[in-house]
Amino acid sequence: MIWSLLTAVIAVAVRGATTATAGPSGCVSFDVNWNLLAFGVNGKDYNAGTQDTWTSSSSLTDITTQGRPPFNAGNATCYLSQFTNAIYVLNADSANPSSIYIYDAAAKSWSRQTVDAGKFDPTNFATILDHDTNVFYSYSDGELFSLDMGLLKAANSTPIPWVDVQQPDLSVDQTGAAVPGANTAGYQPVMALAQNHVHFLGVPGMPAGSAKIFVIHFSYMQPAPQSYGNFPTSHGKTASFFLDAGVQQEFAYIPDDGSATYVINVEVSQIFTKYSNTLVYPCGQKNTTKTLTGPPQQDPFASYSASTSALVQLTTSGKVAFLPYQPSSTTSGGTWTTISKIPIASASGNSSNGTAISSGNTPADSTGNNSTNTTKNSSAGTSSTRMGSQSLICALTAVALAVAGVVAL
Ligand SMILES: *[C@@H]1O[C@H](CO)[C@@H](O)[C@H](O)[C@H]1NC(C)=O
Ligand SMILES: *[C@@H]1O[C@H](CO)[C@@H](O)[C@H](O)[C@H]1NC(C)=O
Ligand SMILES: *[C@@H]1O[C@H](CO)[C@@H](O)[C@H](O)[C@H]1NC(C)=O
Ligand SMILES: *[C@@H]1O[C@H](CO)[C@@H](O)[C@H](O)[C@H]1NC(C)=O
Ligand SMILES: *[C@@H]1O[C@H](CO)[C@@H](O)[C@H](O)[C@H]1NC(C)=O
Ligand SMILES: *[C@@H]1O[C@H](CO)[C@@H](O)[C@H](O)[C@H]1NC(C)=O
Ligand SMILES: *[C@@H]1O[C@H](CO)[C@@H](O)[C@H](O)[C@H]1NC(C)=O
Ligand SMILES: *[C@@H]1O[C@H](CO)[C@@H](O)[C@H](O)[C@H]1NC(C)=O
Repeated sequence: MIWSLLTAVIAVAVRGATTATAGPSGCVSFDVNWNLLAFGVNGKDYNAGTQDTWTSSSSLTDITTQGRPPFNAGNATCYLSQFTNAIYVLNADSANPSSIYIYDAAAKSWSRQTVDAGKFDPTNFATILDHDTNVFYSYSDGELFSLDMGLLKAANSTPIPWVDVQQPDLSVDQTGAAVPGANTAGYQPVMALAQNHVHFLGVPGMPAGSAKIFVIHFSYMQPAPQSYGNFPTSHGKTASFFLDAGVQQEFAYIPDDGSATYVINVEVSQIFTKYSNTLVYPCGQKNTTKTLTGPPQQDPFASYSASTSALVQLTTSGKVAFLPYQPSSTTSGGTWTTISKIPIASASGNSSNGTAISSGNTPADSTGNNSTNTTKNSSAGTSSTRMGSQSLICALTAVALAVAGVVAL
């Protein structure tokens, strides 16, 4: 009791001190049954149940237990390992900045995995957890690193190293051509995962709607960027939508200004551009990005997590909101709604008062009033995914090639 009180006080104090430059001290994630887990909010951890119960006051379970990280570092992020039903938590312990905390969602237990950081800088990185290999890939100070979590749902006593993979060439020019050796120093990484490919967004000079791709299974950085449609080349946050089984095929990208939520489906585009320099070149123009409503709070430090059917935002001040999303739907996603049953730190802690970010943050009211516009823009997000006649030709060509054994779809 005293310990958890202390933890709460420390978390609140640190949150107050770091809100100007750091994201949330806690994080949100899911277990494999798509229960929403909120860690390190209000000094506690909660299971908020499945999506159908998020807006009701019931089904909020306090899952705070021993061995949990102090959630006092800022910029915490967490990742579901779908094979193990474990959540890996980074940046949750200022005394052990490179440690990875592991929450076994089935056993409801915590452990701390020590890490041999090497050249990896735990205060400056972006990362993804690859679905199939359970390996983290991160970009830190211009270097790509990997860290193999094996099939861990409890910490191993041997430290796990961040392995230096390569110095990726992320440079491009406006025509989309690679510019080897060009300067990307100072690039604030935006990494997204889909189809076991790491997508780098917001690379300076890259054409809008493009991503540089690192192919995990071949440890290969594709020289030319891939075009996915329309979204800005800017810094932002991402979260991959899970499937009940198999690799993620699409991810959400929220630019720092929170002006929109872009959902990029890499699957469609990859089929259509597989032979982009030969037969099906025009197919490379296919726009596979849906443009959905931006989050209710425009917090550039907010973190995001996605299930199979929702995108969840956690703001620096500890507010949680979600956007329902149906991958198969060609219409826009649903409406952002605040999950008010998850308590925020300021409710009991007298900390950031829910308005932590002074610049560039224009929070809606706590009920998410601004996110309840139910008038759907019927053209938003659909125009880009409808299949025109040219795309149909492309599709038929691709299928014909597949049947002929030329292309493996
Ligand atoms: C948190 O992340 C921001 C960039 O998003 C960075 O400027 C800041 O130094 C980080 N703070 C900590 C404590 O890691
Ligand atoms: C709570 O916040 C108020 C207003 O900022 C301040 O006057 C008060 O001292 C704070 N209380 C505690 C316990 O920090
Ligand atoms: C919290 O907000 C209230 C009302 O806006 C304000 O009076 C108070 O000073 C704030 N407290 C802190 C700690 O910022
Ligand atoms: C939400 O907005 C509506 C319309 O502007 C307003 O009538 C209502 O009072 C607001 N709700 C809250 C809780 O502020
Ligand atoms: C909602 O957003 C609009 C436009 O951004 C703004 O004028 C308004 O004050 C916000 N709040 C509410 C409760 O509507
Ligand atoms: C709701 O959204 C629609 C479509 O984007 C827009 O035309 C309408 O003005 C919005 N209504 C309000 C109250 O913001
Ligand atoms: C609806 O979305 C389309 C396509 O994104 C856009 O061109 C149009 O301006 C939007 N209309 C409204 C009312 O938001
Ligand atoms: C791509 O889709 C976006 C979002 O729907 C839309 O705003 C944009 O105009 C589309 N671009 C093209 C070239 O069709």
